Amino acid sequence: MPSEFAGFYKLTPEERLRFVGEFAHLDRTELDILAASSALKMDTANHMIENAVGVMPVPFGIAMNFLINGKDRLIPMAIEEPSVVAGASHAAKMARSKGGFLTSSTRPVMIGQIQVVGCVDPEKARASILASTEEILKKANEQDPILVSKGGGAIALEAKVIHTIIGPMVIAELLVDCGDAMGANAVNTMAEAVAPLVERIARGHVYLRILSNLADRRLARAHVTVAKEDLGGPEVVDGIINAYAFAAADPYRCTTHNKGVMNGVTAVVLATGNDTRAVEAGAHAYASRSGRYSPLTHWRKDAKGDLVGEVELPMAVGLIGGATAVHPIAKIAVKILGVKSARELAEIIAAVGLCQNLAALRALAAEGIQHGHMRLHARNVATTAGAAGDIVDKIAEKMIEEKKIRIDRAKELLAEYSKTA
Ligand code: MEV
Repeated sequence: MPSEFAGFYKLTPEERLRFVGEFAHLDRTELDILAASSALKMDTANHMIENAVGVMPVPFGIAMNFLINGKDRLIPMAIEEPSVVAGASHAAKMARSKGGFLTSSTRPVMIGQIQVVGCVDPEKARASILASTEEILKKANEQDPILVSKGGGAIALEAKVIHTIIGPMVIAELLVDCGDAMGANAVNTMAEAVAPLVERIARGHVYLRILSNLADRRLARAHVTVAKEDLGGPEVVDGIINAYAFAAADPYRCTTHNKGVMNGVTAVVLATGNDTRAVEAGAHAYASRSGRYSPLTHWRKDAKGDLVGEVELPMAVGLIGGATAVHPIAKIAVKILGVKSARELAEIIAAVGLCQNLAALRALAAEGIQHGHMRLHARNVATTAGAAGDIVDKIAEKMIEEKKIRIDRAKELLAEYSKTA
């Protein structure tokens, strides 16, 4: 089934859900869970965190029109901000005529750090750690035979001497292929297990044993070409290139540019029950890796004048373990995406981030961002004025037409329409 659907937003939530159900082969129970206002039961929430007293529902929407590596995908997004889902759907549609998004990724390798202090000769300690690589990796892999049996596990060891404000430290780094897991548990368990061995070999004292969220060995990439005609003409392409150049030169703009990328990324990370903070910390640190905070995406114009964009960012997401395997909505989100591996999920998220950035830059370069917000804003104002049902849209349309989106006008229109109803 194609993910392209003109006017999806015009359907009722029930009609939309029916389409998604057919696309993703959701069964009755899954459809009921999605439709229920509180699918996350108190009992499940209570097992997810400490001191649970309730749940905090966030809208769960579907971005349409995505073509990724030649396959149609529906994208579940959990987000409170208006216009993000619409923006992604709109930009994904523009990307279709040139083949949509192409993605790739590295092996899902995470880094576990072991901090050794008090070594008499840090350089010698570093060399001794490296000389014991085989023994240390063996100890690490004993902790997770299942991961190892699936082709993952600790695959390499690195070590460095860092110079800190209180003197030199030796940092041993375990590189762990986490397979389809995000990997925090696996990596932390391994780091803790090898610590006594590292301590003995380095003749120092180990303090921290923890994974790094700068997951720069676990990268996801996406690429897109968008025809200038689909964007609205060559001036829009130039506007986007100018916006990109602005972000590349100015950290104040760059932060907002990257926030736009993360609007898409975080919404899918959250919808699939993954760790939003881990992905965000990794993305922003990666954006600063040159020593200067830089855009996560890159945009240029090709010889035909079409727009070409790329993104590369760390993507520590998993399908097994964590909330993804427990949260009923996250499980359905994974089913809607139709992903079978953590790498496939990571790549789709990268494509959504690139697409979201395209949506924002296009709107900023063309009509301005407020234009897209207007309808939702007008509907919110109408609802705040007390309108409900069909009358909300009627009042919103009228206020947009009059260019007067104000609560007093909404109240007047409500009184007027209520009389004629
Ligand atoms: C708003 O959530 C995101 C934008 O500010 C991103 C951008 O300016 O590129 C529109």
